[in-house]
Amino acid sequence: MARIREAVGAGTLVMVMLLGMFHGAEAGVEYACNFDKDASLKTMAFCDTSKADDVRVKDLVSRMTMEEKVSQLVNTAVGIPRLGIPAYQWWQEGLHGVAHVPFGGALPRATSFPLPILTTASFNKDLWNQIGQVVSTEARAFYNEGLAGLTYWSPVINIARDPRWGRIQETSGEDPTTTSSYAAYFVRGMQEGDPASSSKRLKLSACCKHFTAYDVDNWEGVDRYHFDAKVTEQDLADTYNPPFRSCVQDGRSTSLMCSYNKVNGVPTCANHDFLVNTVRNTWGLDGYIVSDCDSVMVMHESTNYSPTTEDAAADALNAGLDLNCGDYLASYTEAAVQMGKVKEGRVDSAVSNLFTLRMRLGMFDGSPSNQGFGNLGAADVCTPAHQELAVEAARLGIVMLKNDGNTLPLAKSNNLAVIGPNANATHTMLGNYEGVPCQYITPYQGLVQFGSGDHNKVWLSQGCISTACQHDDLIQSAVETASKADAVILVMGLSQVHESEALDRTSLLLPGNQQTLINQVAEAAAGRPVVLVIMSGGPVDIAFAKNDKRIQSILWVGYPGQSGGQAMAEIIFGDHNPSGKLPMSWYPESYTKISMTNMAMRPDASSNYPGRTYRFYTGETIYSFGYGLSFTSFKHSFAVAPASLTAPSVHEQLCDPHQPSSQTATLNCSKAKQEMCALSNFEVHVDVENAGAVRGRHTVLLFFTPPSAGRNGTPVKELAAFESVIVEAGQQQRVVLSLNPCRHLGTVKEDGTRVVEAGNHLLSVGDASHSLTVLSSLEDAAIASAGD
Ligand SMILES: *[C@@H]1O[C@H](CO)[C@@H](O)[C@H](O)[C@H]1NC(C)=O
Ligand SMILES: *[C@@H]1O[C@H](CO)[C@@H](O)[C@H](O)[C@H]1NC(C)=O
Repeated sequence: MARIREAVGAGTLVMVMLLGMFHGAEAGVEYACNFDKDASLKTMAFCDTSKADDVRVKDLVSRMTMEEKVSQLVNTAVGIPRLGIPAYQWWQEGLHGVAHVPFGGALPRATSFPLPILTTASFNKDLWNQIGQVVSTEARAFYNEGLAGLTYWSPVINIARDPRWGRIQETSGEDPTTTSSYAAYFVRGMQEGDPASSSKRLKLSACCKHFTAYDVDNWEGVDRYHFDAKVTEQDLADTYNPPFRSCVQDGRSTSLMCSYNKVNGVPTCANHDFLVNTVRNTWGLDGYIVSDCDSVMVMHESTNYSPTTEDAAADALNAGLDLNCGDYLASYTEAAVQMGKVKEGRVDSAVSNLFTLRMRLGMFDGSPSNQGFGNLGAADVCTPAHQELAVEAARLGIVMLKNDGNTLPLAKSNNLAVIGPNANATHTMLGNYEGVPCQYITPYQGLVQFGSGDHNKVWLSQGCISTACQHDDLIQSAVETASKADAVILVMGLSQVHESEALDRTSLLLPGNQQTLINQVAEAAAGRPVVLVIMSGGPVDIAFAKNDKRIQSILWVGYPGQSGGQAMAEIIFGDHNPSGKLPMSWYPESYTKISMTNMAMRPDASSNYPGRTYRFYTGETIYSFGYGLSFTSFKHSFAVAPASLTAPSVHEQLCDPHQPSSQTATLNCSKAKQEMCALSNFEVHVDVENAGAVRGRHTVLLFFTPPSAGRNGTPVKELAAFESVIVEAGQQQRVVLSLNPCRHLGTVKEDGTRVVEAGNHLLSVGDASHSLTVLSSLEDAAIASAGD
């Protein structure tokens, strides 16, 4: 079989496969246990909806031959006609809208939201949840039309540790607390139906990917198929794994995907300790584990970790894999069983996990049209409300990075020059893993439609044909356009040509002649407002613009989705007050001297290694994690916060179900001990005062600085909690944050255990800070004094 990964943008390929599989969908969706087609199925226990799912699955698997079982272990699962089971395609994508399904017929489009990196910048959990709900509503419509399945391989919750990674756009940035929260809220939105609905079935199945320590795609000859990430227990426990734990435990995701790369010599899809001990047993995944597309083949063909094809199948199954995106498990499992490399019982448990999920999605309960979500159809896709949510997500995400002299908002009466390769961007706004959007509102169109219409002129001049901006022949015409305008909007940045799957950057600078274009336009417009808009997923070194007085304002708009131009224009004209905050630090070009393959989060003074992200890196940044301006100003104060608290004992902390270390399975944890951390929640109340003249939304980012901060591998500071709030001009609002000492104030030791340090913790929000003294438990104090 052609390697899926060689068809770059695997989406193209899956589209072809899906079209083949669902061809003739006019007949409606095919479903198992269709008694109209085959009355004999009525006698089969697995079709009896009065029985429990596990009983039904057991019955079904007991009827299957070995050949039938292995045929189900791959994403393109064939039908089993003698048991009335239709073919099923497991692979759908829903990163920021329904994607990689065959658009057409009654459903030519779907709502296309901003890429997660921008949506995350809203720090708005409700928004994340609502987007998940819209994706699943539209996905159900595609299912009901017979166009696609119900298993969506989203979200991407890898930590964006390095600014060069090509897939940053898909992620929630560099912070484990933020990404963990995004994972939980988005997944619950995707999977959970309306609580008022009578259906007990899952609305959709989400997938936490790609587990774990994966954020190198293709950098200076190192690609993800061959990369062996060297990762410490400590970094796994407090950086790479927390989003996955949250996705499974808090989000109740019904699937997890292992990545391409190895971790410490072992492919993640062959790591029993990861997949079984951690994901299934410690975190309690209730669902299936899938490989990235062709990960199993990679174990044999790319790296020879598995000496034979049968070894690759056995290594993956024995490690706990249930489904192979690719074809290895269908081709080689039977031989692997015959050779004794894998037990038939493991094949049965994989097949059981897969059919259990199909049942939980209602696929064995009769015609979908008679079920809970069966009424969703074309009228529920691209609705005005869904499209408005896509605009709202962009509005809430866009980050204002600079606004000297309150240059923004601009009066609508200005004649505007809109310049740059992304000035009239359409498809670029959709980033990657994109579907077909309901419509586009480009930056230029947004400025025309949401400006004053007849009262001003808006001139468009691209300046460069594309973001690569290799030629300077269009610059002069852009300069002339800028010369006649009252104000200039430069819409610059990146596109998939520079950052995408299988493509990391080697430079953080704007590509080609972009900086020259910006400089010459700024010169021509000197003395008039110049607004620089950066469209990108990953950070860009724009220090030159930050320090240039001719460029008064800078906005970062991510890849803002189908109506990104509307949200951008509303901010530029002041119809919306920006509140987004960077989910990722922006670094100067000099950062690229660091090897991208060094996975260590902690700094290492002996090798001048500066460490990664705001939690550890103390070097120069252009903008730091959490940065973002508003048209108003906010003041914070701690209204309610404890001066001291007594932590649960170390043993109790190790017994907390949120404890990242899986070693604690060996501890003797009583129920009482397991519950101690959960019982020690405390509240912090922060008052937010809007000290400016306009209403605005504000995100409270509560950081904590532990006693040993910045020493011995302890973070400099860490985000403990966040919440966003709308405050009227001149008014004050109280934000209540619930914290847990074990989970939010703990620091992870070298062995991967998280324990709260005794001593002075500094809580901070903006300029306000509060000192919190953590006292050792009486039990620990007694142990300590006995040891003296
Ligand atoms: C802007 O892009 C849209 C969509 O591709 C296109 O229809 C329109 O002609 C473009 N506008 C200008 C002024 O080039
Ligand atoms: C484990 O805990 C139980 C109940 O608290 C106790 O009876 C038992 O002795 C403990 N075992 C060990 C090895 O500490």
